Amino acid sequence: MSSAQRRLLVTSALPYANGPIHLGHMVEYIQTDIWVRFQKLMGHNCTYVCADDAHGTPIMLRAQNEGITPETLIGRIWQEHTRDFAGFGIDFDHYHSTHSEENKVLAQGIYIKLREAGLISEKDIEQAFDPVKEMFLPDRFVKGECPKCGASDQYGDSCESCGATYSPLDMKNPVSTITGATPIAKTSRHYFFELPKLQAWLSDWIRSEGRLPSQLVNKLDEWFKDDLQAWDISRDTPYFGFEIPDTVDKFFYVWLDAPIGYMGSFRAYCDKSGVSFDDYWKADSATELYHFIGKDIVYFHTLFWPSMLHAAGYRTPTAVFAHGFLTVNGQKMSKSRGTFVTAEAYLKHLPAQALRYYFAAKLSSRVEDIDLSMEDFVQRVNSDLVGKLVNIASRCSGFVHKFFDGKLATFDAEHAALLTPYQAAATNIANLYEQREFAHAMREIMALADNANAWIAEVAPWQQAKDEAKRDALHQSTTLAINIFRVLMVYLSPVLPEMAAQARTFLNEGDWTWNSAQTALEDHSITAYTALFTRLELKQVEAMMTENAAQVAAQPQQKLETTTVATAPAAIEKTELALEPIADEIAIEDFMKIDLRVARIVKAESVPEADKLVKLTLDIGVGTRQVFAGIKSAYSPEQLEGRLTVMVANLKPRKMRFGMSEGMVLAGSGDGGLYLLAPDSGAQPGMRVK
Ligand code: MSP
Ligand code: ZN
Repeated sequence: MSSAQRRLLVTSALPYANGPIHLGHMVEYIQTDIWVRFQKLMGHNCTYVCADDAHGTPIMLRAQNEGITPETLIGRIWQEHTRDFAGFGIDFDHYHSTHSEENKVLAQGIYIKLREAGLISEKDIEQAFDPVKEMFLPDRFVKGECPKCGASDQYGDSCESCGATYSPLDMKNPVSTITGATPIAKTSRHYFFELPKLQAWLSDWIRSEGRLPSQLVNKLDEWFKDDLQAWDISRDTPYFGFEIPDTVDKFFYVWLDAPIGYMGSFRAYCDKSGVSFDDYWKADSATELYHFIGKDIVYFHTLFWPSMLHAAGYRTPTAVFAHGFLTVNGQKMSKSRGTFVTAEAYLKHLPAQALRYYFAAKLSSRVEDIDLSMEDFVQRVNSDLVGKLVNIASRCSGFVHKFFDGKLATFDAEHAALLTPYQAAATNIANLYEQREFAHAMREIMALADNANAWIAEVAPWQQAKDEAKRDALHQSTTLAINIFRVLMVYLSPVLPEMAAQARTFLNEGDWTWNSAQTALEDHSITAYTALFTRLELKQVEAMMTENAAQVAAQPQQKLETTTVATAPAAIEKTELALEPIADEIAIEDFMKIDLRVARIVKAESVPEADKLVKLTLDIGVGTRQVFAGIKSAYSPEQLEGRLTVMVANLKPRKMRFGMSEGMVLAGSGDGGLYLLAPDSGAQPGMRVK
């Protein structure tokens, strides 16, 4: 295969800096990394950049809850994220942060170009404002009753019960989830990107050949049917982000500077490598630009982002590749079911390459969800990597050392010809990688491995070895087996880089290119075989799940910003809540045994040694009780003091590491977070709840 060298810049979406990397994220970073490694193996000039998405309200609030600056928080998360990515072999050329000087310069520069092009408008808008915290509330930080159907406990943007979308100001009995205060309506000036002015250009852009997966074009057509709206790109102080030039106390909405973070990261890469930024980003650049993203953020990457780039005089993406979501054991990843597995927990118990292979074996170019079923995972990885692949080398290398001094033979005509079909598969497999049809590529490679194993079983080198007269035949057959193994490892090296490196050590050779598969190792010394992959055991998976459940419970909720786009229609996927099944029936007598009381939180203190616990002093009329509550992930102590809640007053006191816990407070909890119960106003501490 020969083709001109291409120059590509590839990105994965920038993970939020307010939570850990989990296996759902890894679908994307593994998919991108495989594709990038493949491009590099083909000899193309391919650069892969990414960054942490560090701005926005959730990050600001989390830092406040932890009593640290946002800079300290995002610095720590950056360390954790880069550690996890390295653990999975994700080979970024640069990993930056959107909270960087490079990004600030680019974001402000793009904004000014949009303004000069007449694409920024201003308007006063009324929004929910928390009078206690003195800040405007993103829709997701308001809860209340749906104005349409009356369902309680709904978010401020839409109703999960009837599907209505609305403004938090239209809700009945709204509360701020930050302080519990009733939000007031307050007006402030906002800045908008006039997307509708680019509608005609954008409509052509998304339809150009190869730009987007066809499934997405259909979805975008629906969005185009209701005319595009101007996009609100400003947020009021306090906000963790970049200031908008020529304004006071106005910041760019996180989604404005997040995609610009791709450029910011690349700019930092240019500064360290000497590559020319403009070569890649000028309007008529001949380089290719690809974004790998999940299906939930298509709107941002196919409407706002190309429009911003185009209007600011930059090139637009060559293509946007979207993948589906990961489900675990057939279900949406969920904290309460323990299927929200962190990268960290996985890496403690299982090898990165197993997941890389498993995802590769499931990924295609289509926007489809993929499932990680734990039993299937163990079975598939063992059967393919150990049973089919590694087996080829492990069964034959011993003979090469025992009888031939570790040296491979020179092929006779018959054996040289037997290698040819394995080599001839290269073009097809390369096309499949290029098209991101990884599952299909893995099937082709494993079919070759099946053929190889069938051939080895037939010639049975272990039989040949028993017969002195068959020494040459044995040398030929084992040399062929090892060369087949080598060809397959070249094909798999984008997926299994670590195993490929070990294989090269075993084969005693240097780096590979895709064309290495077209050569053979003959009359060549190899080193002793050491195990390239160890079988997975189900108990490793179980240990991971157990440990993970404990870790995850302590993490606050993520992804609050995605659903708060002013112009995004309801078609954008929402995370559904996974609900626990109803427990077994009990009699009223059983229920009456539980003495529930209205309680006022008179004091709330954090427990420094326990990252989940808050120590509460509760007034229940007849006296006070001390309770350790696992609610720190959702509430900081300051938010709790003075509030009314409900407690189980007759629970047997429990001695905990930090003192006695004399009861329990009640909270709704699950995927959507944790919400302390509160009686309607007017309730008195000590009242029995029944
Ligand atoms: N910060 C934004 C992206 C900004 S890009 C300019 C964001 N961050 S995220 O951390 O929520 O997600 C990062 C990527 O991981 C997204 O592409 C998202 O679709 C993907 N995934 C997050 N959870 C996922 C699954 N459960 N399954 C597959 N991909 C998932 O969105
Ligand atoms: Zn409703």
